[in-house]
Amino acid sequence: MAYCINPAVKATITPPIAEAFSWIPQGPRERTFLNLSQAVPGYAPAEALTAHIAALAARRATSVYTDILGIPPLRSALARRMAGNDGDVAPQDVAVTAGGNQAFCLAMNAIARAGDNVIIPMPVFFNHQMWLEMMGLEARLLATDPALPLPDPEAAARLIDTRTRAIVLVSPNNPTGAVYPPALIAALYELCEAAGIALVMDETYRDFTGQPAPPHALFSRCGWRDTFIQLFSFSKSYCMTGYRVGSLIAHPRLIAEIEKLEDCVAICAPHIGQDGALYALEELDDWLAQKVELMAGRLKAIDAALAHPELAYERVTSGAFFAWVRHPFGARTAREVARALAQRHDLLVLPGSIFGPGQEHMLRLAFANAEASDMPEVAQRLIESQRDEDETL
Ligand SMILES: Cc1ncc(COP(=O)(O)O)c(C=O)c1O
Repeated sequence: MAYCINPAVKATITPPIAEAFSWIPQGPRERTFLNLSQAVPGYAPAEALTAHIAALAARRATSVYTDILGIPPLRSALARRMAGNDGDVAPQDVAVTAGGNQAFCLAMNAIARAGDNVIIPMPVFFNHQMWLEMMGLEARLLATDPALPLPDPEAAARLIDTRTRAIVLVSPNNPTGAVYPPALIAALYELCEAAGIALVMDETYRDFTGQPAPPHALFSRCGWRDTFIQLFSFSKSYCMTGYRVGSLIAHPRLIAEIEKLEDCVAICAPHIGQDGALYALEELDDWLAQKVELMAGRLKAIDAALAHPELAYERVTSGAFFAWVRHPFGARTAREVARALAQRHDLLVLPGSIFGPGQEHMLRLAFANAEASDMPEVAQRLIESQRDEDETL
């Protein structure tokens, strides 16, 4: 090529899910391949939702751009949903985005510039780190206890300097599944408030905390807009990954800056997706409650399966869509172990190493894609792989 490539983009890892998919052996196989690599619910969206979307697709009005920040009724419905009973969120605080990842990217671009840093607890959701690196921002990784990977506010405070713009949290966490206790979220919020930096919280899995109580009470705090930025996605709760709808809730002054960015990168989130998201918030509470229960059943099943006495793999944490598991192969890299699981044992999981440095002994099992009845078989394939220990992987 005669032209240059941005070195920051070139130095960033290849999208890891695509790489993991390349490990799936081709050709006939004797048993079902279990794909636990991607955090996608293994069921279809609600039929009522797809019927609604199909009807709307036939209308001319659906084919046009929306307001940059989203259709007004969706902004209002999101404000009501996130405020809950006690919170204060207004439609002007809401930007509808083309998915949760875009919400993160827009938030980072709006608050930070090259040379700034953003604190993220380890292990880190790979797309967050990738975006920061490509933008010339430092992902300042906050070490956590490998046995219980939750961020320690005091350790976070020690990482803050004059170029720090935010602490980023993901709860429930990808990849660990850990659900951050509301008191921890509150402590990190207070740290950010005192330091004059943003607390950015990716709540893509907020419906899957396993608790009926709201994940936190930050929207009830007076002055939350000065500190808190919330990100959400319709991808997981409503199985709408392909419709590309997410949201960002923040101070209206930040939303005005986000509007400039969003105008340039997408103009607006897909109109049809926004219509679907509005329908989901207004009509699918019962459907969502059933799916939350179904996922809780899958979590219980994977936890039970991973407690198998012959299993040398160790579950460290689990929750929402994920189990975070230590592999027993000492010196072997997580990538080698994951590739061997795919190629020899028909089980695709992600290597811990893509979630940041020091995670070579870890694997992420995204079990949302499997039935509860498949979980014992997942454990069996892991047990089967233990025989690989003395072979060349
Ligand atoms: C923590 C987290 N944030 C964001 C996303 C991306 O969501 P979306 O499909 O809304 O872009 C994912 C997807 O796996 C995720 O795990």
